This record gives sequence, structure tokens and C-alpha cells, in this order.
Amino acid sequence: MLGELVSEIVLVDIQIEKTEGEVMDMNHGVSFVAPVKITAGTYSDAKGSDMVIITAGASQKKGEKRIDLLKRNTAIFKSIVDELMKYCRDDTIILVVTNPVDIMAYITYKLSGFSKNHIIGSGTVLDTSRLKYMISEHTNIDARNVHTYIIGEHGDTEVAAWSVTNIAGVSIDDYCSICKGCEVQNIEKNKLLQMTKDSAYEIIERKGATYYAVALAVRRIVECIIGNENSILTVSSLFNGQYGIDDVFLSVPTLVNAKGADRILEVPFSDKEISDLKKSASTIKGLIRDIGF
Ligand code: 2OP
Repeated sequence: MLGELVSEIVLVDIQIEKTEGEVMDMNHGVSFVAPVKITAGTYSDAKGSDMVIITAGASQKKGEKRIDLLKRNTAIFKSIVDELMKYCRDDTIILVVTNPVDIMAYITYKLSGFSKNHIIGSGTVLDTSRLKYMISEHTNIDARNVHTYIIGEHGDTEVAAWSVTNIAGVSIDDYCSICKGCEVQNIEKNKLLQMTKDSAYEIIERKGATYYAVALAVRRIVECIIGNENSILTVSSLFNGQYGIDDVFLSVPTLVNAKGADRILEVPFSDKEISDLKKSASTIKGLIRDIGF
């Protein structure tokens, strides 16, 4: 709605009354944005949608990890995907946000049988933005001029791609060693990565759940798809041999356009980063096996 990206939004939720309340609340702001029709409905009301965004499921409690949600959310997804298969078009793009997102996107792919490009996980788009923020605070440079990626799982095994991290084309190591304005001359990479990984835990501890930045990340993904942007985002999509990894959803820089997750790019990350990416892939694969997919 705020992105002024679509003409119609249908909210579907098991908590019908709450959803009606949300819709009223949003509709009362329509005079401030481009025309959009927002309704509360059932799956059939969303029939033929261009995009479906799944955020439903159990959410992390204090002290829980994303993977602790796996069993509960797998059961919920079985019923959601059944309904989606009745009402989606062949080319509907499904964006999965529910955690653990890489596994939930894989499950959606397996249960639905939809084309792999059309199933996307929000992946590490948010984590990448978090790391950009951490670096921008460290260097006092606009976060939009910081170029970096968090790759792998949206979770504890995620990896920072320091080898390709740069500010205005200058590698982060060179930038930080010559920077006069920066208080800390040597970038403390482990600390910034750890802060990125702990972000959700820190927020959940204080306010119960994360809301705004993840919504902005989702908005950015939708914008790339609706606008056929050919932008590079670290969405989660199905690997098919890239970086020596197969049959798992994970995030790396990926071309996103109207076709969905169109193509995974093979960026020359360092050997250590690629080996950590592979470890992240095996962790996810182990969990997928445990739940019988
Ligand atoms: C986040 O990282 C909890 O996955 C959610 O904000």
C-alpha cells in the first residue's frame, strides 16, 4: 500500500475479526496514497493474484531460534499450500516470508509443484540491509553507498561476503585503512556480522517481534517483481548446482524481475565464504531431511 505498487490487496488470515480490523485501519489511509482496493477475504477472494505473500505461521518467542518454528510451520503450510494450489494462476509468484524462511520456501516449492522461479523466500534481503546499516554507522557513510551481501541461511549460519564489500568501489579493507573521518580505523568484521545475526533476537527481546524493516524488505522485493526491474537482491531461491550446491533454497545475489527469481549469480566470493555457504546449505538440508521432505 505505501509502496503504491499494486491496485488490489486481499488479506487472508484465520483471525478473521483481527484481519477486518487491519483492513479498516489501512483503508482509512487510502486518501494519502495511490488508489488501492484493500479487503479482508478468503483464499477464493484472492483467486488469480499476480503475487501471493505468505507471512502466516507461528512466530519466534524470546530465546527461540527461527528453526525452532519448523515443525509448527510445516503443518500450517500444508493447509496453506493446498488452498493456494486451488486459486493461484500457473505464473503467480509466491513470496515466502514465514520462518525458517529458506525451509518454508522449499516446502512450498515441493508441495505446490510450481515452477522454481516462481517461489521466492525473502531470504537475507533484510540481513543484507542490516549489515549495510551496521557498516554505515561504523563509517558514517549513507547506507545506500555501502555495497555488501549477507549470503546463505536467513539465520545463525548466515555469512557476510566481506570479499566483495565496498564503499564507492573501494574495498572495505582499503576504505577503513585510509579513512580519516572514521573513529575505528580497522573494521571489526566479526562484531558487525554478529550484531547483524543477533538483530532479530535483540528486537524480539524488546518488542516481541520485528515489523518495519522486514516490511520494507518485502516491499523492495515486490517492487522488483512488479516493475520487472532486473535488480540484484539476496532473495532465497532454489540452487541447481551453483557454487556446488544443489536442491536447497538459500540466498545469494539473484536477478529479480517479473519472472521472479530469474537467475542466481555466481559471484567470485572467497574460498572461505563459499565453504561457509556450503556449511549453511548442509545445515538447512539436514533440517529438511529431519522433517521428511
Ligand atoms: C527477522 O530477522 C524474525 O526473521 C525475522 O527480523
